[in-house]
Amino acid sequence: MSIVIKGGTVLTSAGAITADVLVEGERVAALAAPGGAADEWARGAEKMIDATGKYVLPGGIDAHTHMEMPFGGTFSHDTFETGTTAAAWGGTTTIIDFAVQAKGTTLQSTLDKWHEKADGNCAIDYGFHMIVSDVNDTTLKEMRTCVDAGVNSFKMFMAYPGVFYATDGEILRAMRVSADTGGLVMMHAENGIAIDELAAEALASGHTEPVQHGLTRPPELEGEATSRAITLAKVTGSPLYIVHLSSAHALHAVAGARNDGQNVFAETCPQYLYLSIEDLAKPGFEGAKYVASPPLREKKHQADLWRGLRTNDLSVVSTDHCPFCFAEQKELGRDNFTKIPNGIPGVEHRMDLLHQGVVAGEISLARWVEITSTTPARMFGLYPRKGVIAPGADADIVIYDPGARQTLSARTHHMNVDYSAYEGLEVTGKAETVLSRGRVVVESGAFHVAAGHGRFLERDLCQYLN
Ligand code: URP
Ligand code: ZN
Ligand code: ZN
Repeated sequence: MSIVIKGGTVLTSAGAITADVLVEGERVAALAAPGGAADEWARGAEKMIDATGKYVLPGGIDAHTHMEMPFGGTFSHDTFETGTTAAAWGGTTTIIDFAVQAKGTTLQSTLDKWHEKADGNCAIDYGFHMIVSDVNDTTLKEMRTCVDAGVNSFKMFMAYPGVFYATDGEILRAMRVSADTGGLVMMHAENGIAIDELAAEALASGHTEPVQHGLTRPPELEGEATSRAITLAKVTGSPLYIVHLSSAHALHAVAGARNDGQNVFAETCPQYLYLSIEDLAKPGFEGAKYVASPPLREKKHQADLWRGLRTNDLSVVSTDHCPFCFAEQKELGRDNFTKIPNGIPGVEHRMDLLHQGVVAGEISLARWVEITSTTPARMFGLYPRKGVIAPGADADIVIYDPGARQTLSARTHHMNVDYSAYEGLEVTGKAETVLSRGRVVVESGAFHVAAGHGRFLERDLCQYLN
């Protein structure tokens, strides 16, 4: 199928241009100046999209999602089908999800399991990172085969002792592989040993309510773990990507390492830019909706995170989408905050929430595209197939109406979860039409592809390593 997108403002990480776009089959075929080739293209095209007054941007890439993730005795509530469908509604056309190695199992069997869950069920393209929770000789060898299979980023945890936690020695061993192969270690940087003590103290004093989740995971323990991860990366020569960075403390450590020329990168998430510990402290059990790790911080951290996004010390915004229903799943921790499944839903609204940063003057239009699409593509070896509208790139394209108004709500969202962390929030802008590899996925308020359209992406290595 060939499609002409006419009259829009094409956004890239380098800025905005007025241009018409020709899509042929699954790829972008050409861009042309207005009044140029588009009329001729239109004669042979099967479809014309009038993008006058709209932005035309590369589809969003959410590099941190958890569909059907086992956690705390339950599973995150979006399947690959529902989660990728929700993502597409919001203008995200690629996700990178985490395959989770259970202790005592191999990386290969983990990968097989995640392919079984995802293959044939995704509405948009998808890749995997690997969560390494059992570091041993076999795992370390298998990390190398994973790199060859296009799964070349490995999440490790300094938090959750007894579950995913890795010791400094285990991290160091994995980082040696990463340094050798060009694979990327992704770190959940919170000092889990200290946190568990603080949580035990709180419970022993009868403090069971959701806000305790935040109070027992102070930002200092994120800053400390981030610094430690950076040191281990320096000693081994491994690149390092800090996931879901939430605090000024951790940002300070990342900025220092980057100033020293270390290959250290970091992402933050919309919840840390817009929500705060005040949400966790909502009356009754309402705060459970906002339990995620690292926890929501005091509001004062938000200005630092926006600054980090401008200075590129934070170079990606992902969602850490990990939805647990309030009614049945968050409920598991009603009498004990440590039992509340950790995670906040968000895959559908990342593009819109970050667009509010443009509206508020926190980031430019080009930076919006860069942190939500172009940099994740480069960071995770998908560029220039993804992350840009240019001849030869996959035609993952969003026609975005910057003036549309919408109110975020569980009543209207497509994520398979019974609450919205942003219930009632009015936002400006909306993905109007969404293309994935040249197929119209969302148009005129309707969804047009079956799950199964999405393909697995074997990724190249991180493209920022020097
Ligand atoms: O609370 C969170 N972030 N849940 C998902 C697992 C993780 O640590 O990313
Ligand atoms: Zn994490
Ligand atoms: Zn996560």
